[in-house]
Amino acid sequence: MKIAVLPGDGIGPEIIREARKVLEVLQQEGLAMELTEAPLGGAAYDQYGSPYPEATQKLAREADAVLLGAVGGPAYDNLDRPLRPERGLLAIRKDLQLFANLRPAILYPELANASTLKPEVVSGLDIMIVRELTGDIYFGQPRGIRTNEAGEREGFNTMLYAESEVRRIAHVAFNIAMKRNKKLCSVDKANVLETTEFWKEIMIDVAKEYPEVTLTHMYVDNAAMQLVRNPKQFDVMVTGNIFGDILSDEASMLTGSIGMLPSASLDKNHKGLYEPSHGSAPDIAGKNIANPLATILSVAMMMRYSFNLDAVALRIESAVKKVLADGLRTADIYEEGTRKVSCSEMGDAVVAAL
Ligand code: NAI
Ligand code: MG
Repeated sequence: MKIAVLPGDGIGPEIIREARKVLEVLQQEGLAMELTEAPLGGAAYDQYGSPYPEATQKLAREADAVLLGAVGGPAYDNLDRPLRPERGLLAIRKDLQLFANLRPAILYPELANASTLKPEVVSGLDIMIVRELTGDIYFGQPRGIRTNEAGEREGFNTMLYAESEVRRIAHVAFNIAMKRNKKLCSVDKANVLETTEFWKEIMIDVAKEYPEVTLTHMYVDNAAMQLVRNPKQFDVMVTGNIFGDILSDEASMLTGSIGMLPSASLDKNHKGLYEPSHGSAPDIAGKNIANPLATILSVAMMMRYSFNLDAVALRIESAVKKVLADGLRTADIYEEGTRKVSCSEMGDAVVAAL
């Protein structure tokens, strides 16, 4: 397994250091793994003058999976857009053709108070949102701002999905549903938008290949309401790029603990980019207080989705649950009666639990 490790900026190097400890345990146990580091984002700009330099491109393309910390920070805010750290992130996603974005929202019972919702509504929440990442209104042509025939200025975008794009994300979602509770909810706006009526039609067709999975459909406005009313009704949700952007952010906030949420972006061969859902947290960088669990849980997703090592993924996830059950908390999830630990202490505790 060739793994490209891109620490990035801000707390990136700190959280990646802890995730590497977990990978190194697996290595010592005999999993054949090659870990190679390269810069991305601001760190890459500092070293090479580009947020996604050739050396990083080469490494990322040759790897079976990429583990990323986070990019960006105030030091780079005044750079021209093409040189900004965020461009590095967009560039690597595009370069690796990562079309399936997997965003779990999990709330461990021990952290139920972190949510702004009532504990009974969210405790034990475990949903997976599968968002299509390379199509939809974000990329459809034509687009632009123009003056129409009546002489008025107007802005326009095109919502567009090719059948092949919908089919491939459908297969990803059904496969994930098969690995979980065999429930899939496809989110659309088929009552108003032809693009998503088409989406729904394809979902129903692909469902024939997964007779064990129960497929349901929900309009996106209702889905937004249901996520805060009764989120535990959902297991796996699949949706297009724009609806998924909004719903996945909404779902992640149900848990209230941004330092806990991993993510994955996959290509058609299960090669993936794994990263925490949060950013580079410049406000706490260099203090050894960041929560490394989102990054460690991203390693678990890597084992599950790129290497098909479900048992290893479960072990990492169980180790995280154990340290939480033991009362260990980084500052972001600390509450009275628990024990506050640093970023590196948290990493060490997960390694011990493993
Ligand atoms: P952020 O996610 O970096 O931070 C938001 C808040 O959450 C901050 O108070 C931060 O301290 C806290 N936080 C985040 N991760 C944490 C962790 N692991 N442990 C403890 N606390 C944590 O979002 P923000 O502040 O909007 O962006 C900061 C920088 O990160 C910007 O340059 C932004 O562009 C970049 N960014 C990068 C992303 C990526 O690399 N995928 C995603 C989002 C933002
Ligand atoms: Mg978003």
